[in-house]
Amino acid sequence: MRSFLHGVALLVVALVVCVQYVGAVHPVEVRGQDFVDSVTGKRVMLIGVDYQPGGQAGYKPTSGQDPLSNGTVCLRDAALLQGLGVNVIRVYNVDPTINHDECASIFNAVGIYMVIDVNSPFGGESINRANPVESYHVGYLNRIFGVVENFKNYPNLMAFFAANEVINDVGTAKKPPPYIRAVQRDLKNYIAKHSKRTIPVGYSAADVREVLEDSWAYLQCAIDGDENDQSRSDFFGLNSYSWCGEDATYQTAGYDVLVNMFKNSTIPVFFSEYGCNKPEGVARPFNEVQALYGVDMTSLSGGLVYEYSQEESDYGLVYINDNTTVTLKKDFDNLQSQYNKLDIGLVQSTNATATKLTPPECSSALISNSGFSKDFDIPSPPEGAEDLINDGIKSPLNGKLVEVKETNVPMPAYGSTGIQIQNLAIRPLPNDDSNTPNGDTTSPTGSTTAAAASPSATKKGDAGKASIGGFGVAIFAGLVILTML
Ligand SMILES: *[C@@H]1O[C@H](CO)[C@@H](O)[C@H](O)[C@H]1NC(C)=O
Ligand SMILES: *[C@@H]1O[C@H](CO)[C@@H](O)[C@H](O)[C@H]1NC(C)=O
Ligand SMILES: *[C@@H]1O[C@H](CO)[C@@H](O)[C@H](O)[C@H]1NC(C)=O
Ligand SMILES: *[C@@H]1O[C@H](CO)[C@@H](O)[C@H](O)[C@H]1NC(C)=O
Repeated sequence: MRSFLHGVALLVVALVVCVQYVGAVHPVEVRGQDFVDSVTGKRVMLIGVDYQPGGQAGYKPTSGQDPLSNGTVCLRDAALLQGLGVNVIRVYNVDPTINHDECASIFNAVGIYMVIDVNSPFGGESINRANPVESYHVGYLNRIFGVVENFKNYPNLMAFFAANEVINDVGTAKKPPPYIRAVQRDLKNYIAKHSKRTIPVGYSAADVREVLEDSWAYLQCAIDGDENDQSRSDFFGLNSYSWCGEDATYQTAGYDVLVNMFKNSTIPVFFSEYGCNKPEGVARPFNEVQALYGVDMTSLSGGLVYEYSQEESDYGLVYINDNTTVTLKKDFDNLQSQYNKLDIGLVQSTNATATKLTPPECSSALISNSGFSKDFDIPSPPEGAEDLINDGIKSPLNGKLVEVKETNVPMPAYGSTGIQIQNLAIRPLPNDDSNTPNGDTTSPTGSTTAAAASPSATKKGDAGKASIGGFGVAIFAGLVILTML
């Protein structure tokens, strides 16, 4: 009898544990040339969108605002991005002193990873390409370690960008490169000491051909051939805008040249921005999506479309209206229909050769432009940095997943023809899945407001299964325990 009660108690405990269960996407690792789901071993190609509503002004630390600070806004955008079919967003400027739990948890629930830039455009919050020596100081490191602390516990944090477009011409290719490696080393040492898991750290490059290949060669190599060299990039992002308009092809856009340039890469290479907006005034057809995820480009790891919201630079997939509603642009519809055509089996398939590639040893022979740094003597951490790395920053704000209670988007959203999207909601994914294109057409078509874009009954059913499945496991576990007693 006593053991029976004991068993019942355990069963109750198991059920309670289960009710509080928060699903989480699997952490992503770098293996050779690929990003890989650390649990399933499947390849993770980035099917992504750059996300910085408000542009630089979307980062307002004085009023506690950044692109991931408002759960209601994230719910709205996560619902649309999930329907679009993306599995990752890149966010450029975040404040390490504010809480991102709701937004991170919402994106996690719909299987969307986050790649976070640790820098900001504010003074002292990035390496100054004109004066790297002076900008590399302990105050700067304190900020970027704060970003690590804030995001490290979210399972859907995919990676950090240590720097963005610092080496932009031959003039900026001399002094900054060793500093980019220094910042990567410090971030990775900090992560090794203060995070439960490894988090990839890398660089995002401008597509300036005179320095592009050298930037990659400089950052991916291992100093003294040491594979554990912490100053190496774990991945290389490339901001690429060469595929423009309806008539561009793999060859005319020069994608063949890029594939050739990076085919030997020993780290993942992907487009950290793409989506040329020329010719002006025409919705982007996004034909490059078929090339980027097709058989010719499997040596690259996909990319992120620039960018979610319409800003001054005219690259948006959606308009964010003053009344907090969203109206999709035709660009959104086009991108969604391109994603829906992808061969997800190919996108997720692994390649034993690619995942086993190891880095070349750094040497001046890897660098072709005479103006580019050949200096692999990486600057030591600045005064005070060793203690900061060993002891951790003072009063870090550590994010954590929280329960996502609300799934329905409270404000209206409109398709590209102006018709309201019915029943817009996030659909939490079962089984810790990451998101994939799912055949949705979000913009309602035709002249009625028929429920064209509402989540289908089966999708809702699937989402429901997540918790029922969890209960089932708990009940089963409880019964096993009962039997054992
Ligand atoms: C979040 O954004 C919504 C929509 O813009 C707004 O109504 C709300 O006040 C914001 N919440 C906070 C805490 O700023
Ligand atoms: C790729 O590697 C091969 C063999 O190691 C080498 O011959 C070739 O030059 C490399 N290509 C590039 C673009 O680095
Ligand atoms: C919000 O603003 C948009 C764009 O101006 C407009 O089309 C829409 O009707 C407005 N919605 C509401 C609920 O006010
Ligand atoms: C596997 O990856 C290697 C290295 O990138 C590449 O040379 C090879 O063509 C790939 N194989 C397939 C089947 O894609």
